Amino acid sequence: MSHPVTTRSITKRCITIANLSAVRFGRTAPMLMKKILLLGSGELGKEFVIAAMRAGQYVIACDRYDNAPAMQVADEREVFSMLDGDALEAVVKKHQPDIIVPEIEAIRTERLFKFEEQGIQVVPSARAVNFTMNRRAIRDLAAKELGLRTAKYFYAKTFDEFKAAAAEIGFPCVVKPLMSSSGHGQSYVHNAGELETAFKEAMEGSRGDVKEVIIEEFIDFDSEFTLLTVTQQHGWPTLFCPPIGHVQKAGDYRESWQPYKISEEALKQAQTMADKVTKALTGAGIWGVEFFLTKQGEVIFSELSPRPHDTGMVTLGHTINLSEFELHLRAVLGLPIAGIHLEHAGASAVILSPKEASTPVDRSLLDYNFVDALKEDRTRIRIFGKPEAHKGRRMGVVLCYGEVGDDVDALRDKAKRLATTVLGTDPYTKFEH
Ligand SMILES: Nc1ncnc2c1ncn2[C@@H]1O[C@H](COP(=O)(O)OP(=O)(O)O)[C@@H](O)[C@H]1O
Ligand SMILES: [Mg+2]
Repeated sequence: MSHPVTTRSITKRCITIANLSAVRFGRTAPMLMKKILLLGSGELGKEFVIAAMRAGQYVIACDRYDNAPAMQVADEREVFSMLDGDALEAVVKKHQPDIIVPEIEAIRTERLFKFEEQGIQVVPSARAVNFTMNRRAIRDLAAKELGLRTAKYFYAKTFDEFKAAAAEIGFPCVVKPLMSSSGHGQSYVHNAGELETAFKEAMEGSRGDVKEVIIEEFIDFDSEFTLLTVTQQHGWPTLFCPPIGHVQKAGDYRESWQPYKISEEALKQAQTMADKVTKALTGAGIWGVEFFLTKQGEVIFSELSPRPHDTGMVTLGHTINLSEFELHLRAVLGLPIAGIHLEHAGASAVILSPKEASTPVDRSLLDYNFVDALKEDRTRIRIFGKPEAHKGRRMGVVLCYGEVGDDVDALRDKAKRLATTVLGTDPYTKFEH
């Protein structure tokens, strides 16, 4: 029997819909459907949102510029500087999220403690996000409190302190701003003559209000790797993904591969360190824990990020049963992860922009060639959809995979070769800025 549509039935339907949305987003509603505020909307955020969408979650993606990659796939967006504490607070008040998921470091992290006190879940925890945005906090925790092996280091606020620290460490040494990421302000100092420029660059490359640098012993490592580590809710155990090897140039990731060859003993050491540091920082989610492996086979803790890691994009190429984004989502929602398995060997290589492109017309000048790469089997291309391109900016990634046990070096070569065909830029191209 059909009902005539009357004003009353429309009103009733509206009420039902209104009630539904109240239930859907209600903080007390005993439902899995959560309202997630994503702080930072880059390519890693985009993949996290896709994982969240597949699980029917509701996501508001935030960043300081509009149409950022994660915004393109989220329910809602907010454009503001997350370093502006008041603006951040206003957005939290407006949306009343159940969960705040930071995707970048440039956030007024002190405010996160307050949100946590109000009952909002901060991922993995306000403490973790706050500690990891400043190299001093995390390095002192790892080296001094937890006794993990790290490069020898000092801090400096003035050029005199900097000179004295370099004399103590010797050359070459590495200098980085306390607050920075992706190689900003970072340089290698080979002799006393380079100190002044290095100090200036580090001070200028510093983000936020902290004007201080860290000077580190240069570790002449054999290779470096990321141990994706998953901490869980409900007292469930910490899980580790198979290690990921990677190469950074100019402080930025160029290629990564999984699995990374390492002795059982060295892997155990890395897992123990990752377990210690993530436990000390508390919370649930995925972490990218970075290590150096020396030529003597020693494992040295480098740093960690309490979120999916760019080198972990290799997991989008079907290397493990759940990508790092799916793992993050499960841990964030407190859902079981029955196991993490290596399913394929795989490699990823970055697609870099050869030029500047900022308007829609310019953008069409970025001529993506999908055909050559996709002609080859077991190859995937991910284009992030960034609204602006800059020379050397990471615009996408090529993923290649084979069977477990296949030659990973051959997969690395294939990924790099195919990444070069997409925009004509080799993943190792050095761009002058
Ligand atoms: N002490 C060091 N010795 C040798 N290489 C280093 C050292 N510190 C950093 N690097 C190189 O620089 C890259 C970026 O440094 P990292 O501390 O991870 O900063 P970011 O936060 O920018 O990722 C590392 O992955 C590594 O390749
Ligand atoms: Mg790093």
